[in-house]
Amino acid sequence: MKRQYSNVRGTVDFSSQQVSLYESLRRKSMNLFNLYGYRQLMLPFLEEKNLFIKGVGQASEIVQSQMMKIEGKDIVLRPEGTAQVVRYYLQHRLDKKNNFYKFFYLGPMFRGERPQRGRLRQFNHIGAEVVGSDSVYLDAEIIILALKIVDSIGLKKKQLQLNSLGCQADKKKLSQYIKEKLSKQKDKLCSACQKRIVNNPLRVIDCKRDKCKRIVNSLKLGKGHLCFDCQNHFNNLLNVLGDLGINYKYNPFLVRGLDYYTHTVFEITSDQLGSQDALGAGGRYNNLFSQLGGVDIPAVGFALGVERVMLALGKKEQKKRSLVFIARAGKNLEKQGLLLLSELRANRIASSCDFRAKSLKAQLRYGQKIGAELVVILGEDELKENKVILKDMSKSEQETLKLKDLTTKIKEKLKNYD
Ligand code: HAM
Repeated sequence: MKRQYSNVRGTVDFSSQQVSLYESLRRKSMNLFNLYGYRQLMLPFLEEKNLFIKGVGQASEIVQSQMMKIEGKDIVLRPEGTAQVVRYYLQHRLDKKNNFYKFFYLGPMFRGERPQRGRLRQFNHIGAEVVGSDSVYLDAEIIILALKIVDSIGLKKKQLQLNSLGCQADKKKLSQYIKEKLSKQKDKLCSACQKRIVNNPLRVIDCKRDKCKRIVNSLKLGKGHLCFDCQNHFNNLLNVLGDLGINYKYNPFLVRGLDYYTHTVFEITSDQLGSQDALGAGGRYNNLFSQLGGVDIPAVGFALGVERVMLALGKKEQKKRSLVFIARAGKNLEKQGLLLLSELRANRIASSCDFRAKSLKAQLRYGQKIGAELVVILGEDELKENKVILKDMSKSEQETLKLKDLTTKIKEKLKNYD
C-alpha cells in the first residue's frame, strides 16, 4: 500500500546532515576547480530534446528510455551536462573569442531510470569540460582533477579504469568487429542486445545480463582497433599517468554509455557501491561539436555522481560545525539573549537559542540536542554585574566571566572556529 507521504521514486531527500556533507563536497571541489583554473557555469535544467538526441545519441539508453520530457513540448529535464556545455559554447560563439575554455558545473540531472541503490531519477553532478585542446596532458589533468576531488572528500579507496575508443574511424572498426563476432552467437544474447548488435554494437559490451557478459568476455578486445595516432595518444597518456604515480587499470571493455566519446574514456569506481559502482566518469568527445553542427573542436571532461560519492563515504563522521547556545535563567531575558546573539553573530560565531519560553533545564536539553559545544547562561544576578556563565558541554565545566571577555573566550574554546 502506498504510504500517505512519500517522495517520488528515484529521488532522495537530503537531511540537514547530508546537506552539510554535500556542501563540504561542493566547497572542496570548487576550491580545486579554482586551483586548476576552471570557471563555473550555471545552465538551465531545461533543454531542447534534440540536443541530447543528436549529442548523446539516438541509440543510447538515455535517449531511448530515460529522457524526462515536459508534456506537449520538445523540452526535457537535462540528463547530463556535456551536450549542454557544448550547446552553450556554440550558442555564445565562444570559438570567436578564445577557443580554450575550462568550465565546471554543479547541479541536478534527471534520468528516467529504474531506481535502485545508487541509481536515481534525480541526482547531482559535479562536472568539468575543457574545450579547445586535444593534448594528452589535458586528458591527464582532467583525470587527476577528478581523482583529487574524490580524494579531498576522504574517499581514498577507489579505482581508475581507462580505455581508448580511438577516433571515429577506429570506433567504427571496433563496432564492426563486435558486430561480426557477436552476430554469430546472436541467439545466445538477450533480446535488447540482439537489437543493439544492429543499432549500436558497442552497447552490448555494457550489458549487465550474465548470459551476455559471458559472450562479451570471450571477445578479444585491446588496442588492435586503434590507428597509429590514437595508439600513440593512449600510450602517452598511460606513460604520463605512470610517471605521475597514478594507479590505473587498463580495461579494454570500458566503452561508456554515451555515444559522443572518442579516444580516452575513464571511470572511477568504488567497491563500496555494489552494481552501480561508478563514482564518476568521463573522456574525450572530439566530434561532438561538429556532430551538433558547430565548429570542429576537441574537448574532454568528466562528471562525478554526488549521491554515489556520498553513499561510498557511508556514515563517516562529519566535522561538526561549532555552535554556541544561549540559555536564559530567569524571566524577561529574551531581549538580552537576542542582543548577545547579534553580538556573537557579528563576530562570526554560530549561535542559537530556544525561543520557546521554557525552564533552564529544558533549554539546556535542547541545546545539547542541537549539538551546542558551548552554552552561555544569562542570569539576572550575573547580568547586574555585567557577567555571564559559560558552560563547556564536552567537559561539563562552567565559569563566570565578564561579558566584555565573552567573545574572545568563546573563540579560544571553539574547535572549529574559522
Ligand atoms: P555518466 O557516466 O552518465 O557520464 O554520469 C557520470 C556519473 O554520474 C556516473 O559515474 C555516476 O556516478 C553518476 N550517475 C549517472 N547516472 C546516475 C543515476 N541515475 N543515479 C545516480 N548517479 C548517477 C556523464 O553524464 C558524462 N556527461 C560525463 C562526462 C563529462 N563526460 C565528459 N564530460
